[in-house]
Amino acid sequence: MIMDTIGIVGAGAMGSGIAQVAATAGHEVVIYDANREALDNSRSGHKKIINRLVEKGKIADLEGADIIARIHYRETLHDFTKCGLVIEAVIEDLSVKKDVFERLEKIVSEKTILATNTSSLSIASVAAACLHSDRVVGIHFFNPAPLMPLVEIIPAVQSSTEVVMRSKELIDSWSKVTVLAKDTPGFIVNRVARPFYGEALRIYEEGIADIPTIDWALKEIGGFRMGPFELMDFIGNDVNYTVTETVFSSFYFDPRYRPSFTQKRMAEAGYLGRKTGKGYYDYSEGATNPQPVKDPELGQQVLNRVLVMLINEAADALFWKIADRDDIDLAMTKGVNYPKGLLKWADEIGIEKCVSDLDALYNIYHEDRYRCSPLLRTMASRGHKFY
Ligand SMILES: NC(=O)c1ccc[n+]([C@@H]2O[C@H](COP(=O)([O-])OP(=O)(O)OC[C@H]3O[C@@H](n4cnc5c(N)ncnc54)[C@H](O)[C@@H]3O)[C@@H](O)[C@H]2O)c1
Repeated sequence: MIMDTIGIVGAGAMGSGIAQVAATAGHEVVIYDANREALDNSRSGHKKIINRLVEKGKIADLEGADIIARIHYRETLHDFTKCGLVIEAVIEDLSVKKDVFERLEKIVSEKTILATNTSSLSIASVAAACLHSDRVVGIHFFNPAPLMPLVEIIPAVQSSTEVVMRSKELIDSWSKVTVLAKDTPGFIVNRVARPFYGEALRIYEEGIADIPTIDWALKEIGGFRMGPFELMDFIGNDVNYTVTETVFSSFYFDPRYRPSFTQKRMAEAGYLGRKTGKGYYDYSEGATNPQPVKDPELGQQVLNRVLVMLINEAADALFWKIADRDDIDLAMTKGVNYPKGLLKWADEIGIEKCVSDLDALYNIYHEDRYRCSPLLRTMASRGHKFY
């Protein structure tokens, strides 16, 4: 079957990024958006980015021109007939996505794979819009798609094995790192990463450490590229809050994912982070921000607490077979730049120590949030390691 032409529906941040990736990998790309302005912005955005890559010497002149020539901007879906794969990246609204899939199925060939880039909807619910739902799969890129290596491949209950494997092979050939994830809220990354924000917020709310100190501990002692508050300001407190709330409600209100009032108030106040010039930090010209208290003991305590909660989440994802060991570790290093895979990190710390740290937290709070994953506890009692 022809995989030469890739269709992209939605020319926003993600659709444009994915179109660039596919065209760079040598495919003809047809990109459609319901909004003409979005399509124009996508076209000018591609030209700007590719020209910059040429200027920087990252790609040759001719190659840049070829990439641009391979992307075809369209105001209707009719040119999608030749596509071997269509990736949908329209707004995060189930009824809009279902409508797109219903329309696509009437246009594309019987063998065309239809993928959704949704972050928070179930792949099964999107696939249900199709008559041949076995051709639907989740292909979840990270923002910005041309720069982030990770792509989560998510089979729906309806997906055929062949569709999943062919999608994975294709995305691998685009120099991306693919991992397989179960169709559950947050897939791998957006689930396992929750404590990075949630536990940091909790430590701040309890007054254990202030914001710059928590960021300093995670970066300087932990080796994370950005501190949690810097990262929330970068992502946007509105966006990050919404993801947390969606994961929380999708997990039937499991307290492990409970959102924080601190972040909710920041979002309500419009202190969204870098994009509004103010979030946990002040980004205005000449602003002075508070400095961390560089107390090594406090720093280690902060790091240990966030890290053990992350490890617990990663172990639980493995326990529930959301993905295998290697894919969970790959997802966090390639999708959110963690300095190490969390399960590898657990081995280094010692599984028994992880369990006793979690139990110590549980003993203080008696909250379900701090319950240790059954997998970690069993491994500790048997002296097992992840690797
Ligand atoms: N932004 C992220 O960080 C990120 C990361 C991974 C996945 N996602 C997911 O990718 C998808 C797109 O996100 P985004 O950030 O690119 O959004 P965006 O708002 O930048 O772009 C969405 C585009 O869809 C277009 N659109 C809306 N309805 C349409 C329709 N019926 N037909 C065709 N086009 C339509 C809009 O005009 C807009 O250009 C969402 O499902 C989102 O959850 C986003």
